[in-house]
Amino acid sequence: MDLTAFPRVKLMHGDTPLHDLPGLGRALGTQRLLIKRDDCTGLAFGGNKTRKLEFALGEALRRDADVIITTGAWQSNHVRQTAAAAARLGLRCHAVVHSPLPAPGGDYRRSGNLLLDRLLGCTLHDVASEEAGIECIAALAGREAATGAIPHVVTMGASDGVGALGYVACAQELLRQCRDIAAAPSHIVLATGSAGTHAGLLAGLRVAGSDIAVVGISVSEPAESKRIRVRRVLDDLARTTGTPVQVPDEAIVVLDDYAGQGYGVPTAAGDVALRLLARKEGILLDPVYTAKAMSGFLDLLAHARCGPMRDPVFLHTGGTPALFAYLDHYLPGTAM
Ligand SMILES: Cc1ncc(COP(=O)(O)O)c(C=O)c1O
Repeated sequence: MDLTAFPRVKLMHGDTPLHDLPGLGRALGTQRLLIKRDDCTGLAFGGNKTRKLEFALGEALRRDADVIITTGAWQSNHVRQTAAAAARLGLRCHAVVHSPLPAPGGDYRRSGNLLLDRLLGCTLHDVASEEAGIECIAALAGREAATGAIPHVVTMGASDGVGALGYVACAQELLRQCRDIAAAPSHIVLATGSAGTHAGLLAGLRVAGSDIAVVGISVSEPAESKRIRVRRVLDDLARTTGTPVQVPDEAIVVLDDYAGQGYGVPTAAGDVALRLLARKEGILLDPVYTAKAMSGFLDLLAHARCGPMRDPVFLHTGGTPALFAYLDHYLPGTAM
């Protein structure tokens, strides 16, 4: 797929590394394991949204927008990266946020991504639910337009056909890097939330003729809801590009056994995975997405749930600033 046809702004520092995980491999007594470091995209602590925002904000600039409106949970990595990208491009940014947790503790309310959003100059609008957020976004867009501004709404997680182009680009980059290091992965495992990453990666691989299996680990909903989300983004991507992407239903693989009690609630297996990667590789995961995804990756390796895996790749999608919002979870009552 030729991505040069789409408006794009450069936000990434460059290609993210694809490298081996020798310490984890030794600890597990297993084969070659690989990690694709999209936690290292570079923009304000990095993460997967940077790739999507290159296209989402490319489209905003094409429309001459001067204010970005987006939405997410309080500890949204998407909101933080959108705020940073808007700042970089000289655009104002509103974020409509809601708390996914019934009674979040003090650090969840102030630290992590919420702290960074404020430092990045983003105006936050707290709403009671995702539904209330839809009304708030419409009201904000109306208010901005009434003052002569040109608002541009970036969907939650930038998970639409335009944002997914970022992961078509990632698929191309990954295939190039695999050739360079003589790796032939059978599977890529990642966290699936609003599903734009999963959909873009899967489409990008298939369009490039690769049959690497993409295994999504749901961080919240049942697998079927996630599969529907992936399909929706795939359809929107086909509309955006005018290129029908042939992805049969059985190629949309999502596992929901690692989500625990739902969005934003850490799992015991995720915590084990997070500490294991920290101590064997010096790589940090996050409690909301990548720790759960890594717990799934480890389980797939141990039990061959998706069949034998050759040179499996874990896609690290970032999210580490959220660690600081979970201080009480990781160090309850510790002073020093
Ligand atoms: C760190 C991290 N990983 C994974 C995801 C999931 O990506 P997607 O929403 O494209 O499924 C997100 C989404 O916010 C994220 O912040």
